[in-house]
Amino acid sequence: MDKIIINGGKKLRGEVNISGSKNSALPILFATLLTDEPCTIENVPSLADINTTIAFLNFIGKRAVKNGSNVSTSVSAKYKHIAPYDLVRKMRASVLIMGPLLARLNRVDVSLPGGCAIGARPIDIHLEAFKKLGADIEVEGGYVKTVAKKGLEGNEIKFRFPSVGATENILLAAVYAKGKTKIINAAKEPEIIDLADMLNKMGSKISGAGTKTITIEGVEKLSGVKHSVIPDRIEAATYLIAAAITRGEILLKDVNPKHLKAVTDKLKKCGMKIEETENTIFAKWVKDLKPCDISTAVYPGFPTDVQAQWMALMCLLKGKCSIRENVFENRFLHVAELQRLGADLTVDGKFVYIKGVERFSGAPVMVSDLRAGAALALAGLAAKGRSSISRIYHLDRGYEFLEKKLKDLGADIKRVKSEK
Ligand code: EPZ
Repeated sequence: MDKIIINGGKKLRGEVNISGSKNSALPILFATLLTDEPCTIENVPSLADINTTIAFLNFIGKRAVKNGSNVSTSVSAKYKHIAPYDLVRKMRASVLIMGPLLARLNRVDVSLPGGCAIGARPIDIHLEAFKKLGADIEVEGGYVKTVAKKGLEGNEIKFRFPSVGATENILLAAVYAKGKTKIINAAKEPEIIDLADMLNKMGSKISGAGTKTITIEGVEKLSGVKHSVIPDRIEAATYLIAAAITRGEILLKDVNPKHLKAVTDKLKKCGMKIEETENTIFAKWVKDLKPCDISTAVYPGFPTDVQAQWMALMCLLKGKCSIRENVFENRFLHVAELQRLGADLTVDGKFVYIKGVERFSGAPVMVSDLRAGAALALAGLAAKGRSSISRIYHLDRGYEFLEKKLKDLGADIKRVKSEK
């Protein structure tokens, strides 16, 4: 497996173009299954998860091809209704195949999900919601078999937790359901708004996306669409923290500052200089930063996907602070690896207590999940000496052109191909 080698201690300085959002592109690509007309999706990042999704679409029967950052889909063969383990195990977001196939075929058999190492990550909220729309569900032979004998019927669905994936799955399923569907306690992330915008451009009647109550009026048919994916707010937050941890300065371009206000507010509170325009964020380290507690929350709170990166930064600031992880029940896998670099961290349930240390010393570390990998890369950038980061296939799932973007910012970083 490939490794990344970083010789740390260099200040990052320069500009970086933020890529399209992975977590918006994935549901949007699955949404192309809802029409047989051609679609063009723009600003799609080149990532392993995107390739997995494109392979998935082609397996199901939807012709999808990526050219640069554009994905074009065209007429489809008769869709398969089975999502096999070897595709689903690679990416938890594969569960989003359920909504479109239920909408089109009134049935789908999907292998139980795999994906990230962060906690159990069940899909009970998705399944409860499909039942409310008239589907019957049975789990057999490692597959979740879902059938809507009389087709999907609109209904009122109340989520016990504002799950991002479940909100997306119900949007994808309800567009063809008979009558009106109402999601109460829906996720409000920008990626939900982006998906709803695209579906409405295709002819859906969705209102309230971005609020906690979303209404979907079922329609007969959806047309093809041309849609550009919103910028990746998690990638953007990661590069801002890279500037902070290396005491450098960075200009993010093609970003929507409104989507990461919780992170920039915290960075300002720590002492970073932050200036924003409509589509750029400039961040500069101007003085020793003060540690700041964070408590992760659903949007618009501090994103759980930035928790690991924030932890890496807090480890190097004089003083103490705490991190509370409220969204996932086991998202501290990066703690042990940061401790190998010299971090002073104590885990207690949902909390991690941090005592700042003088410096990290470079060491070989291993990535457990996508955002933990980002935290280790940031720590390597700040560490004195050489860090080697293995299992970086996790990083390739979510960060487009990572080494190139960091090298252009002045980092001493290279990818070492594994000996075959
Ligand atoms: C999406 O995952 C993102 N992935 C995650 O980003 C992100 O961390 C998460 O939302 C929260 O913001 C994509 O968009 C592809 P959830 P998702 O359903 O939809 C529990 C990254 O790094 N839950 O909102 O899976 C679940 O276990 C990835 O890019 C249930 O219990 O997140 C978790 O504790 C990591 N039952 C919490 O809810 C369910 O049926 C949030 O999950 C569904 C979720």
